[in-house]
Order: sequence, then C-alpha cells, then structure tokens
Amino acid sequence: MSAHRFSTHRFAPQGPLTGRIRVPGDKSISHRALMFASLAIGETRIDGLLEGEDVHATARAMQQMGAQIEKDESGCWRVHGVGVGGLLEPEAQLEMGNSGTSTRLLMGLLASHGFQASFTGDASLSARPMARVIAPLSQMGAGFTARAGDRLPILMEGAHPAVPITYRLPVASAQVKSAVLLAALNTPGITTVIEPVPTRDHTERMLSAFGVDVAIGEDGDGARTIAIRGPCDMTPCTLTVPGDPSSAAFFAVAALLVPGSDLVIENVGLNPTRDGIFRVLRAMGGSIEELECREVGGEPVADLRVRHSALRGVEIDPAIAPSMIDEFPVLFVAAALAEGRTVAAGLEELRVKESDRLATMAAALSAVGAKVEEHADGLVIDGTAGTPLAGGGPVATRLDHRIAMSMAVAGLASTAGVAIDDAAPIATSFPGFLELLTEATR
Ligand code: S3P
Repeated sequence: MSAHRFSTHRFAPQGPLTGRIRVPGDKSISHRALMFASLAIGETRIDGLLEGEDVHATARAMQQMGAQIEKDESGCWRVHGVGVGGLLEPEAQLEMGNSGTSTRLLMGLLASHGFQASFTGDASLSARPMARVIAPLSQMGAGFTARAGDRLPILMEGAHPAVPITYRLPVASAQVKSAVLLAALNTPGITTVIEPVPTRDHTERMLSAFGVDVAIGEDGDGARTIAIRGPCDMTPCTLTVPGDPSSAAFFAVAALLVPGSDLVIENVGLNPTRDGIFRVLRAMGGSIEELECREVGGEPVADLRVRHSALRGVEIDPAIAPSMIDEFPVLFVAAALAEGRTVAAGLEELRVKESDRLATMAAALSAVGAKVEEHADGLVIDGTAGTPLAGGGPVATRLDHRIAMSMAVAGLASTAGVAIDDAAPIATSFPGFLELLTEATR
C-alpha cells in the first residue's frame, strides 16, 4: 500500500448556488451492480455507475476473481459474469482501500466459496470493526484470521458447502444484512435475515432484478424477514444507477444555507430507506421540492429544487437514523447555522464509520466557530440563526470523504472560509465534487 498523500484545500465563502446540476451514481447501488453482474452468466450493462475509488476497489476485486468488466465508448459498463459459485480464488490480496461496503459485502459473497481470500485496506478501513460480519459468516462455516479486535488485514477461508442460517441483525446495518444474503446465494437451503430496524434495501431490490427469488416477510414480532433459497441462478440484466442521495445532500445543504440559492439537483435517488436527510431538512424549514418523480432502475428518483431557507433546530427522532446514516455530518453543518438547538441522539454507529463521525465533526465544527456539545451517542448543536460561522482550520478530516465535503459546505457559509487538511478522500465517493461546486456557485 502506498503512503497517503495529504492535499489541503480551502473552501471560501461563495455566492448563491444556482442552475441545474447532476451528482454521480449511487455508491451502494454501484457496488452491488458490479458484484451481482459478476455472478450472472452473460452480459450485464450498467449505466450511471459511480466511478469513485471505492467502486473501483470492488471492480478490481471482481476482475481478480474472473469477471470481465469494461467501459464502452458510450460510458456504459459491460460486465460478463462467471455464474453463482464460479468465482476463482484470488491470487493476490484484495485491496479494499477505504471501502467498508466492498469489504463487508465481499466477505459475505466469498464466505460460501471453497477458497481463501485476504482483505487489506487503508488506515481508516483497518480501524473499523469486522466482527459484525465475521460472527454470522462463521456460523455459516467460514473461517477467519484477523488482526486484534477483528480488524483488517483478514484472511478468510470460505466454506463449501456453507451452512444456511437464520440471523437476527444485532445492529441496524445494510452491510451485515447484505453479507449474509450474498453468502446465501451459493449456500444450499434457506438462509434468512431478520431485520428489526429496516435499513437500505438495494440488495433485495437488485437481486430480484437479477432473477433471484427474494422472499420478504415479517416475523411474529413484526420484524422484516428476508429469505433466499440457494444455490441461486442469476440472469444478466440492464441497469441504470440513479444519482446518489448521499452526494446530493451536500449540495442541498449548501443551497439551503447560502442566501439567494435556487438549485435543481437532477436524478436523485429517493428510496425511502435513504431519504431521511431530506425529510429532516424539510422539518427544519428547508424548501426542498420534488419534481418529475419517476422510477430509475427499480428505485424512486426525482429532481430536487432547493432554495435558500431560514432553518430551525430540531430534535431528530433516532428511528429515522438508518435512512440518513451517512448524512449526519452535513446535517450537523445545517444545524450549526439553524436557529435554536438541534439534538441528535442514538447515533453510536457514527463512531465506526470511515472516521468517528461524532468526534470528528464536533472537533471540526467547534474549530470553525460552531457551538457543539459531544455526547456518547450524539451531538447537541446551538445554531447561529443564519450568521456565517467564523471559519478557520485546517480541520482534521481523518481519511473521511463525508467529513471533507461537510466542512466544504461549512466553508461556503463562513466569513473567512474553512480549510481542510485533506481533500483527497473525496474521490472515494464523489469524483468531480470540487468542479461541481465551482459550477453551481458560478
Ligand atoms: C452501506 C451501508 C451503510 C452505509 C455505507 C453503505 C451499504 O453502512 O453507512 O456507507 O451500501 O450497504 P452500515 O450498513 O454499516 O450502516
């Protein structure tokens, strides 16, 4: 692994965000599209794929295991898969970079293949807990040798045949749910995941598009159940990836905060398991209109018209957290400029993302003049009622793309601008972010 090169950047206060922009494809959906296409015999075509570093890590891994993946002149990705159970043992380590989704979903997918695979990652990924996937996959028969604390690097010994299980998710995590469901594809018998708190359902939706019979139900306690009978056959298909609501959120908050803004963000995925940020911003008084509501690739999509608005602080219902789990850093920026107090609790999961997002955002926002109190499970923020933050920095972004982009938004709404210590991680999920910001504020 080469040493990370830090690239500092300063985000100056800017005039209004106007016009029409498009954000890149959804990261969660892009990972799944490449993985599933690699399991279907024949050609799958994918339009709108996110070309960020995290998705490239998935593509490289699938190529190492035998899939053919290439981009044609029109920008469409064409994937020729190997069939369920047909992946080849990777000869080299699978380098996952910064990507937790690649790591956890692939650990699941490979757990039911009778070979070894070793996973490595950058400093951020190597600090993240993997016990949450090791536990169910061990029950299915896979073996793991991990660094202390169940961290990467990890050597996995897949099981063939693996054993079907019924697994109740102890944490609300789409990555853990997906890991078990992907292991199930090549496991004889019925594997069931019980999901007491619903999380993003892209895996279930897309597996159906590839011809897998995914049985969704409810258990006696009203928890959602997802069952797959393996081994499955998967048929290739044609997919269009909608724009990423998590990326759109940075521009939505920027437009709400910068006076005079009136911005349309086109083609934003609004799956109800992902759109919590827009619901909370509206509850804060944000003007966010959905235009041209439609379906793209089996997912609800709309263009969002966002206008500058006076925001009010809110108490955020912890039940909405899974549908906006990646958007809290930028929500905290909105709260720092709202009128009154915002209380966000029940967010322990934010401590194990690309960085500890409660600690990192509390430190970064405080450093640029916001009033933030950090608690074990959340933040309490007293906003400025629209008065720009003082600004300053460079603030530490801790190899976390969403901290970098959130603090970029804070810079737009500051007096002196906000410097971040490292803009490089932005490319993991949002290549072209800086250029798009320039375009929207021109
Ligand atoms: C993701 C699930 C979420 C999210 C991550 C992407 C996915 O993680 O934070 O960015 O694609 O399944 P958890 O499942 O750990 O909450």
